[in-house]
Amino acid sequence: MNIEKIRSDFPILQKQVNGRPFVYLDSACTSLKPKQVIDTMNSYYSEYTGCAGRSVHKFAKKTEEEFAGARQKIAKFVNAKKPGEIIWTKNTTEAINLVAHGLQFEKGDKVITTNLEHSSGLLPWQAVAAEKEISLDFVLCSKEGEFNLEEFKKKIGKKTRLVSVIHASNVTATISPLKEITKIAHDAGALVLADCAQSVPHFPINVKNLGIDFLAFSGHKMIGPTGIGCLYGKEDLLEKLNPMLLGGETIKDADLQTHVLEEVPKRFEAGIQNYAGAIGLGAAIDYLSGIGMQEIESYEKELGKILVEGLLNNPKIDLIGPKDFKKRGALAAFNVKGMEPHDIALMLNGKNFFVRSGMHCAYPFHKFLNLPKGSVRASLYFYNSKEEVKLFIENLSIIIKNFA
Ligand code: ALA
Repeated sequence: MNIEKIRSDFPILQKQVNGRPFVYLDSACTSLKPKQVIDTMNSYYSEYTGCAGRSVHKFAKKTEEEFAGARQKIAKFVNAKKPGEIIWTKNTTEAINLVAHGLQFEKGDKVITTNLEHSSGLLPWQAVAAEKEISLDFVLCSKEGEFNLEEFKKKIGKKTRLVSVIHASNVTATISPLKEITKIAHDAGALVLADCAQSVPHFPINVKNLGIDFLAFSGHKMIGPTGIGCLYGKEDLLEKLNPMLLGGETIKDADLQTHVLEEVPKRFEAGIQNYAGAIGLGAAIDYLSGIGMQEIESYEKELGKILVEGLLNNPKIDLIGPKDFKKRGALAAFNVKGMEPHDIALMLNGKNFFVRSGMHCAYPFHKFLNLPKGSVRASLYFYNSKEEVKLFIENLSIIIKNFA
């Protein structure tokens, strides 16, 4: 990993804040963007603005080509069978909602999820449970965030229609055993949807190996633009999913009272799409693939080790999640005895360390840990240097020494 070269690709990392360098430790919220992504997006706006699938002029054709090319890149990146298994959405949230509202549930069906979910993987099921008279059941992860396979085996049954699970937690940094979960679910006749917002950006994902039915992720957490995300779905399942929105380009024909739906995936992509976003995400995929996802994963393990061991070294810090860095992704949520999460984040901000504080959209899990004010979270990505992580630990220790 040529970290210097990588950092030089990110225009924002060349800037200073209040005349000093800054350390960005909030990539689980949103990642920074390299110039390759920004330039690719700009070129859509400055060189060939058009609408895919509509007009026949050069700009429209170029847009169509680039838009289709980006879909191909995503399909290859997650090892989907074909580009048609990738649907463009705004983000992970929309992708999960698309499945929640599009699946044809029957009264009495059950959805199983966990207490570790982000709001985007919980609220859609609450809404569908109320609307369609299905029940919601939960596998309770341990206090460290580990998925309980034994409890899951007891809960899953003939009525279980779908299992919806967060792949990599944005709080505990644990990784769910997705392959095992999928095998157990399929043996029981249930489908599996994984919220991969925090996993697709950080390590290789292979939908064929996992056997997963649906997978959702966002572009902006993987050095791509905001406002673009993807739903991967197995072809035969997408065929049976009802579109959540209808409009331009979702139909082959319409009369005043009826219409004929387009093929998958077009029937799910109503109206003018976020072309610059999709094409920008394609450039992000090129960038990540250029480094290699395995390379990114192992470098992040090294960063995670420094972060976790540094935090564990301070007796005033309560780390959330496993203590073994090998069991975690490169993020750490924690609390400091005697201090409030937002105060710590503000003090760090004063020293140009940018972290997140609060509930991280994971209310039930913070309540489960009896943390009504949430936690502070430092989340890393491959553009962070080891030096930055060490500086963070040093500066946090100074704050704790002075204020806790
Ligand atoms: N899910 C994002 C986070 O954890 C927004 O910060």
